[in-house]
Amino acid sequence: MSIMGVMLAYLLGSIPTAVWYGKIFHGVDVRQHGSGNAGATNSLRTFGRKAGIIVLIIDFLKGFLAVFLAQYLFPDSNQYLPLLMGVVSVIGHLYPVFAQFRGGKGVATALGVIAASFPMTVIICIAVFLIIVFTTKYVSLGSILSALAFPVQIAFNVWGINPNQDPYYLAFAIALALILVFTHRHNIQRLMNGTENKVGSKK
Ligand code: G3P
Repeated sequence: MSIMGVMLAYLLGSIPTAVWYGKIFHGVDVRQHGSGNAGATNSLRTFGRKAGIIVLIIDFLKGFLAVFLAQYLFPDSNQYLPLLMGVVSVIGHLYPVFAQFRGGKGVATALGVIAASFPMTVIICIAVFLIIVFTTKYVSLGSILSALAFPVQIAFNVWGINPNQDPYYLAFAIALALILVFTHRHNIQRLMNGTENKVGSKK
């Protein structure tokens, strides 16, 4: 059952929202524009606000649904299956079988996973994201710090979300944060040499 769940999560995460949106509504591949990323930020940059919001919502739902389906379809399965399916849905988003394995950076999908697994933690993750983006204008920096805020909350048991201090939850949270840091490695380089795109820029 777990194998089926993991495959389902991968296929769900593989839905390349930004790529399909660009091809269906604009006849272009979003990966050939802006930062080249198949995500909400680059859809906003390339196609405008409506595209950014639609891609953000659908990519978020992929992660949310992966966790929800784990609980709904496999209620008797291992207690860690929801988080595992959530992380796998993010991997599907990064390497989508439906789009030549070139997807996005996983931020919106990871946010969906976090919202479905530990709902309260999303508040701090979103707050960190918004504060950083509004003060620095760097979406990537907001994404990275917001991702890191997730394991920190689990580690310090903020909101009482991890009362047993289960090390597996912390391991999943650290893995998810590290995946997002990895997908932002080029953004990190650009941030360090001062060439990262700011909100509103077209690259
Ligand atoms: O969600 C991805 C964002 O953090 C960075 O996107 O297109 O500026 O590399 P982008």
